[in-house]
Amino acid sequence: MSCAMMATTGFFMSSATPRSSSQAPITTPQTSVPVRTIPGSYGFPVLGPLSDRLDYYWFQGQEAFFKTRIEKNKSTVFRTNVPPSFPFFLANPNVVAVLDVKSFSHMFDMEIVEKQDVLVGDFMPSVSYTGGLRVCAYLDTSEPSHTKVKNFAMDLLKRGSSLWIPTLVSRLNTMWDSIEDDLSKSTSASLPLPQFLFSFLTRCFIGAETSTSPEIDANGADMMQRWLFLQLLPTVPLNILQPLPEIFIHSFAYPFFLVQGDYNKLVQFVETQGQELIQRAETEFNLTPQEAIHNVLFILGFNAFGGFSIFFPSLVSALESQTTKGLQEKLREEVRQHCGTDPSKLTFESVKKLELVQSFVYETLRMNPPVPMQYARARKDFELSSYEQVFEIKKGELLCGYQPLVMKDARVYENPEEFVPERFVGEKGKELLNYLFWSNGPQSGTSKVGNKQCAAKDFVPLTATLFIAYLFQRYDSVSISSGSITGVVKA
Ligand code: HEM
Repeated sequence: MSCAMMATTGFFMSSATPRSSSQAPITTPQTSVPVRTIPGSYGFPVLGPLSDRLDYYWFQGQEAFFKTRIEKNKSTVFRTNVPPSFPFFLANPNVVAVLDVKSFSHMFDMEIVEKQDVLVGDFMPSVSYTGGLRVCAYLDTSEPSHTKVKNFAMDLLKRGSSLWIPTLVSRLNTMWDSIEDDLSKSTSASLPLPQFLFSFLTRCFIGAETSTSPEIDANGADMMQRWLFLQLLPTVPLNILQPLPEIFIHSFAYPFFLVQGDYNKLVQFVETQGQELIQRAETEFNLTPQEAIHNVLFILGFNAFGGFSIFFPSLVSALESQTTKGLQEKLREEVRQHCGTDPSKLTFESVKKLELVQSFVYETLRMNPPVPMQYARARKDFELSSYEQVFEIKKGELLCGYQPLVMKDARVYENPEEFVPERFVGEKGKELLNYLFWSNGPQSGTSKVGNKQCAAKDFVPLTATLFIAYLFQRYDSVSISSGSITGVVKA
């Protein structure tokens, strides 16, 4: 186990308050505590998984599904099934749920778990969606290609960093101009996020303007959304009248050929506009052109476009919250004090001084982790500790964590259900970064080839901080209702 991991997990023995990093790592079982049988059951074959699937998607919904089972089993660690399952999936729905900070953290220890093909559970979308290749997010750290591709991903960010802020600012200019335009004609305007994100990320990762291809410029964001959505459909809860989703959407995987045309156009775009990138992938990272193209599309489309498409709306909605009165004024004051009013002068250094804005961003990630489900498979038999309990995990068992509940663990977070914008401010606040897990690892940890933490662990919160800084440089306040912009007061 790495030092960062030990520092992260050091406080967990049985206390409610974070303790110092010098204590024993989380995976050390408490000797005085007897090993307990994992509660819960998988039920009868076919019927158990089907009934759990209906609860998960229909009768209870994700959050209530896990909450009721915690209550029933009187434990945050238990056996259950998670979809997809019956009738047309070969995936094994049996998992061990880990729903508190301490038990969840075992999923970051690459000595005891592996992450091969478990990005969205035992089910894996067809590799046709990724050019017949298993891309970075599906590779375990023991696979040599993981090292190559993760280094490539981190290099993409490093190289893109000089373009990151100017491109972000220019795309935000376009986005907010268009929102103001809409507001001059209507009482509310939605955020045109897909276009903004697609254009921003394409420029930073591929080094190309979408305008170099009229078709990609006009439809690239939609193409990417369709590709992303179709491969994930079996795992996504949908707000559509039941039982339609259970019959038509969650019962089988949709074939790639439905989006093949879209994907091929995106591939062609990378092939023609990303020549330099492909060459660098070959010479510096020993990747084939195909590996480079499909990995960069996955990073751009799945990791970045997909992640920000969920994260930014929750960030904007958090500004609307009724319980955080006066929040916009405080954020604006801090932004103006450290970054002034000129977005062209924003830098990574200047936004790092925005303690409250950063804390607000972290709190949004805590309350609404954009990737709610995480999985990891036991690499070997080991003992998994929860607070007062220890369980035996057998090699091959799949652990499953539902982060929205884990991030409300009352042993770590005071008033866990409350959105507290300043929660991560100050020394005590910084300590809590050890337990903020949106990136599949602690926010205080380091993403590297030896772990499976998001390559953009620092870029994501910094980009969100820039997004908020820009907003309060441009506006004194913004009115938001149900995620749409209903008014702006210009600075
Ligand atoms: C809001 C945006 C994002 C969110 C919420 C997010 C979240 C995550 C999560 C949860 C994982 C781990 C998945 C798992 O194995 O369980 C992950 C992995 C990854 N992310 Fe992100 N991510 C975001 C943006 C980005 C961006 C901008 C990049 C660009 C480089 C990126 C690159 C990656 C890569 C390469 C991995 C795989 C890491 C590995 O295999 O070791 N992500 N991300």
